[in-house]
Amino acid sequence: MKVYVCKNYEKMSAFAANYLAAQVIIKPNSVLGLATGSTPIGMYKELVAKYQNEGISFKNVTTFNLDEYIDLPKENENSYYTFMHENLFDKVDIKEENINIPDGSVENFEVYSKEFENKIQKCGGIDLQVLGIGNNAHIGFNEPGDTFSNSTSVVELTESTILANSRFFESEDEVPKKAISMGIGSIMRAKKIILLASGKGKAEAIHKTVNGEVKPGVPASILQFHRDVVLVIDEDAASLLEESSYERV
Ligand code: GLP
Repeated sequence: MKVYVCKNYEKMSAFAANYLAAQVIIKPNSVLGLATGSTPIGMYKELVAKYQNEGISFKNVTTFNLDEYIDLPKENENSYYTFMHENLFDKVDIKEENINIPDGSVENFEVYSKEFENKIQKCGGIDLQVLGIGNNAHIGFNEPGDTFSNSTSVVELTESTILANSRFFESEDEVPKKAISMGIGSIMRAKKIILLASGKGKAEAIHKTVNGEVKPGVPASILQFHRDVVLVIDEDAASLLEESSYERV
């Protein structure tokens, strides 16, 4: 696990955008795994600027998003469908048919989840997976638990995640209680992973992820076992790490 510490959120976003752009330049038909949340917004903004000013093209890129709320209509301002279209897809040249976001409104989640996983494999697997991290070290919507889930499935959100995500909704009651999420196995099968974290609120989760024991109670800790992971974090998120465990960029 390689940890890069950037001075602030803007520098973190620029570094991450360069990392993704490099992937797309080297392999224009890359399969990207994408994340939502407030953390990657700056990175998406930088990628849109690269599309507009530097000719980075997404026309042969395929994307798979990590997760989506269940029972929140696509058109809702808080759906991850809306988030991805507003922050990236509507602003670049990606083809709509190459966009894959889990659908939180299907009838049969078991069948749908299998199809979603199969589609990732059919596309050759994810070349580069982007991750954020929850305050409780969840990745995607894989909450702390007793086991690491292998593949895409329906998950119940924890109270702490519902509370954290209520900042985007009118009230806590409006936050969906369930989501469909790629599993820890789906994430670990990606060829490369980049995890972003910003702010003091993430410092403890980052500390446990980098230096703690690998256990399902700290979902992101499993990343210690992946052979190509970079953490790109700002100084606040790195504040509990020993200087020797990271490189400043
Ligand atoms: C949500 C998403 C995660 C994201 C996390 C952190 O729960 N499902 O993918 O990493 O929030 O969000 P933020 O970046 O807003 O702190």
